[in-house]
Amino acid sequence: MIKTIAPGSMPTAQLHRLILGAVAPRPIAFASTIDKNGIPNLSPFSFFNAFGVNPTTLIFSPSRRGRDNTNKHTYENIKEIPEVVINVVNYEMVQQMSLASCEYPKGVNEFEKSGFTATASETIRPFRVKESPVQFECKVRQVIETGDGGGAANLVICEITMIHVHTGILDENGIPDPNKIRLIGRHTGDFYVKAYGESLFVVEKPAAKLGIGIDALPSKIKNSNLLTGNNLGQLGNCENFPSAEEISGVASLLEVKKIIKTYKNDQAILDRELQILAKKWLDVSRVKDAFCVLMIETKDFND
Ligand SMILES: Cc1cc2nc3c(=O)[nH]c(=O)nc-3n(C[C@H](O)[C@H](O)[C@H](O)COP(=O)(O)O)c2cc1C
Repeated sequence: MIKTIAPGSMPTAQLHRLILGAVAPRPIAFASTIDKNGIPNLSPFSFFNAFGVNPTTLIFSPSRRGRDNTNKHTYENIKEIPEVVINVVNYEMVQQMSLASCEYPKGVNEFEKSGFTATASETIRPFRVKESPVQFECKVRQVIETGDGGGAANLVICEITMIHVHTGILDENGIPDPNKIRLIGRHTGDFYVKAYGESLFVVEKPAAKLGIGIDALPSKIKNSNLLTGNNLGQLGNCENFPSAEEISGVASLLEVKKIIKTYKNDQAILDRELQILAKKWLDVSRVKDAFCVLMIETKDFND
């Protein structure tokens, strides 16, 4: 069953929770700003992402409060001093980061409240969070206010002017290693996710490759009720159909030969048994062999 909802038909707070639960996980920008008197502010924002690298573009949104339609101190500071350090958040920082999200009165320094170390930046005035594995010094290029009601977004469009990286989180190619940077993301309510360890999985997609597409698969494969959407995706990602030689090579494997011998007089059962085997192989990434198995026709193997 599908529930269909017009956004305006739902109270804003409930709509907020629905959207946060469906657009997740979101990375967290731990934003450090200062006001015109130089008083620091530090707050987390998960309406955040990276959108380009030339020029570098990070966007986050200190939204208008749903409660009383006021603006957040981070937004007010950015209007006064259009500079921000966006610090990324790893698991080791999560409790202190959460503490910094408390609605402290204006002028309270959340670096002190949350116990993080304020470090001077090189290109802008706001401080960096020393404990954060990657700190982006940014100039604010544009602010887009999407509305004037509670819950409206204030899109802060930033360009990075300097990047500070803890080298311990890098792999041998100088790229952040997910298991070393240990980033966390925000889900809805009190839920967070860990973007490392068992949460990681691999989907191979070499840039130069052009998959044949699921639409090109024979209908008995496409319409199989054993193969999942992921299985079909794996097959559709192959660049070519297997050749006759490849198919007969796989057909001569003992495991396959036994199935063919047992069911060769009934194509429907044979297809089913071969699909069960193919699915087992797809689930352990033996994609080419699985594709060959699925292309076997009994008529080719009558003895
Ligand atoms: C993980 C996390 C993510 C958050 N994301 C947002 C967000 O994207 N936008 C927002 O307006 N508030 C967000 N909040 C709430 C703000 O951090 C909170 O309102 C904070 O007190 C704002 O501080 P300020 O008024 O000093 O700027 C988030 C809180 C947490 C803990």
